[in-house]
Amino acid sequence: MRKKIAVANWKMNLTFKEAEKLIDELLSSEHSFNENQLAIFGIPFPYLCRAQEKFSDKKNVFVSAQNCSNKLKGAYTGEVSVEMLKSINIQFVIIGHSERREYYNEGNEMIKEKVDICLLNEMNPIFCCGESLHIREANQQNEYVGNQLKESLFHLSAIQISKVIIAYEPIWAIGTGKTASTEQAQEMHSFIRNSIAENYSKQVAENISILYGGSVKSSNAKELFSQEDVDGGLVGGASLIAEEFSAIINSLPKTIY
Ligand code: PGA
Repeated sequence: MRKKIAVANWKMNLTFKEAEKLIDELLSSEHSFNENQLAIFGIPFPYLCRAQEKFSDKKNVFVSAQNCSNKLKGAYTGEVSVEMLKSINIQFVIIGHSERREYYNEGNEMIKEKVDICLLNEMNPIFCCGESLHIREANQQNEYVGNQLKESLFHLSAIQISKVIIAYEPIWAIGTGKTASTEQAQEMHSFIRNSIAENYSKQVAENISILYGGSVKSSNAKELFSQEDVDGGLVGGASLIAEEFSAIINSLPKTIY
């Protein structure tokens, strides 16, 4: 059964005090989850343990890291390994966000290594893909995203890829207030699902959650999430406001596919 998921991506925002306040506000908001819905919070490394503690008795709520190293352990100053995350019971990591691809030169090969290291350590990657504006304007988005999937994911076995959550985030829609239209989102999500079906099987493709990211807000979440192949959202800016993100969680469709 495909999960419907709202992922918060706090990015490099909030002090410890501000983070605690936001978590407390979220905890006091009403969320109605059914069994196939999840909320996952992508929290900065220094606050992961605290967030785990705070959310610990919430069913269907998980804490995620925003990145991990492509190396297992050793002399890599400043890096955080999957083993470390696992040792504090983190089960999800955002991998290959476009900001990491652009500002930290993460290419498809490095992202593939990160995906592999996650899966070898029973960690679920939230794999981000998506095209820039000039690729969209040249109408090359399918080739571009198809290649990201091919070079970083399609070497996986069917069992492994079933543990991956995919987030399609057109770069031109991230933090810009410009959202992809529901048609553009559905078109790309359906392309991604068909590519998985071609490389694996229809059944594998049907069970993978594909999230949309890029200026998701409470005002557009319901419409985006109502599309057949849009299984929720990866949310940046709006996830820093408790009321907004709670409304986004509550916009997840209840339908069970
Ligand atoms: P945004 O960010 O919601 O602020 O556009 C989304 C993301 O980068 O994951």
